[in-house]
Amino acid sequence: MKAIVNVDTNWAIGNGDSLLNRIPADMRFFKEKTTGNVVVMGRKTFMTFPGPKALPDRVNIVLTKDENWSAPDVITCHSIDELFVQLERYDTNTVYVIGGSAVYELLLPYCDTAYVTKVDSAKPADKFFPNLETAQDWVLAVEDEELEHNGVKFKFTTYKRI
Ligand SMILES: NC(=O)c1ccc[n+]([C@@H]2O[C@H](COP(=O)([O-])OP(=O)(O)OC[C@H]3O[C@@H](n4cnc5c(N)ncnc54)[C@H](OP(=O)(O)O)[C@@H]3O)[C@@H](O)[C@H]2O)c1
Repeated sequence: MKAIVNVDTNWAIGNGDSLLNRIPADMRFFKEKTTGNVVVMGRKTFMTFPGPKALPDRVNIVLTKDENWSAPDVITCHSIDELFVQLERYDTNTVYVIGGSAVYELLLPYCDTAYVTKVDSAKPADKFFPNLETAQDWVLAVEDEELEHNGVKFKFTTYKRI
């Protein structure tokens, strides 16, 4: 299982319901990585999608404790145990945890890879990803060259579990 996330210099990922940064190259990277695969997300992240509608060409799995909640083209799971039963149907290498904060926290212990797009900015935020720089069990494996969008610097990195 892999995590894919966009963080700022404080490892912040969101403020309320909103993403902090929308960078087209990062959106393309996300689409390339996840298309044809399985995406696992929290109900709050799903609700931020346009529509809100499932992401096309992907198996969408949404975690919620609400037994009455449903959405078209979405598999709902009500606990981590239910999620792992669902995931038995898929190759673990095709499963991407896509947020948000609560679901990253819940599933990062089961991930072996994290694709982290680092944005060189710090905005007001109240949602965070665990800081993998200070984590004992994660190492920076790949760091691409710095890119820029509208004056904002960013880079693609990959962390691996040791
Ligand atoms: N920068 C990025 O890459 C990125 C990516 C994704 C999201 N985000 C940001 O992250 C923020 C949203 O994160 P969030 O932490 O508020 O919400 P979230 O993780 O998207 O969703 C939390 C919800 O997931 C469900 N859930 C969590 N653990 C569960 C469990 N063990 N069993 C069953 N259901 C469970 C619950 O839904 P119910 O309340 O329905 O029970 C919970 O309220 C937004 O700001 C968003 O923009 C950023």
